[in-house]
Amino acid sequence: MTTESTRIKVWDLPTRIFHWSLALSFLGAYITSEGERMRAIHVMFGYTVLGLVAFRIMWGLIGTHHARFASFITGPAKIKSYLQSLLRRAPEHHVGHNPAGALAIVVLLLLGISTPALGLLAYNDIGPEWIGDVHQIVANGMMAMVAVHLAGVVVSSFLHRENLARAMLTGYKLGATSEGIGGTRRIIGILLLLAVIGFWVGYGWTNPGVLQAATQQATGQTDGDDD
Ligand code: HEM
Ligand code: HEM
Repeated sequence: MTTESTRIKVWDLPTRIFHWSLALSFLGAYITSEGERMRAIHVMFGYTVLGLVAFRIMWGLIGTHHARFASFITGPAKIKSYLQSLLRRAPEHHVGHNPAGALAIVVLLLLGISTPALGLLAYNDIGPEWIGDVHQIVANGMMAMVAVHLAGVVVSSFLHRENLARAMLTGYKLGATSEGIGGTRRIIGILLLLAVIGFWVGYGWTNPGVLQAATQQATGQTDGDDD
């Protein structure tokens, strides 16, 4: 065990761009989900969630050390021992994701695929009518999981005396130099950001409903009738 504590890079740029774009797109899809008026924006954000999670799965295989699934996905024994260490108020320290956080992340990624996939079926009238209801239930399940995730981030930040949200913004934490990642993979992060923005611009361009709904929202116009 080392006591070395310097500022080290933990989260590469693609992981951070992924995280904040995912949070924004998920909340965007959730806020615009009710009724037909905002449907084009809803679908745009929903597809973004799907694309981002697809990217993250690939990055979990080839990304930098702490972003790789192999470095943070563990079995029930380690999750239990981590949770017990929290109860003892002597939390085991993990530079990357802790075992309990990792479980929440895997569930969030699975929900990040199934929610938009079910929405896609409902949108294209594929399958029975209740698919739309299942889509809504799974989306609410994802929102509940986000709440658990946020509570976990707050509790761990206090117990570890470490601002985890800031680390997800800057990429840096305190730790042993040997645990830092070599590079931040800046180019891939920038390409990911450009892909998200490019998709939104392209989608808005080809689906006038996106712009209409956005301007209606901005000018405070309500639904009214559709005639
Ligand atoms: C609103 C929807 C959100 C979703 C769907 C979400 C999802 C995720 C996912 C999938 C990860 C894993 C990151 C990775 O390795 O790729 C993660 C990590 C993380 N998220 Fe979120 N997140 C959300 C909002 C937030 C917010 C608002 C905050 C800030 C308060 C936050 C703070 C963090 C932190 C600090 C980590 C790293 C946890 C650690 O250190 O192990 N998240 N989140
Ligand atoms: C993570 C992404 C998504 C979230 C969080 C989400 C969330 C929701 C929620 C909560 C509803 C129920 C709204 C209500 O009636 O109160 C809904 C409805 C709907 N969503 Fe999504 N959605 C997502 C992705 C998508 C995608 C990608 C599509 C289409 C390609 C889509 C298409 C629809 C449709 C068609 C409905 C209406 C279903 C019906 O009433 O039968 N959604 N969504």
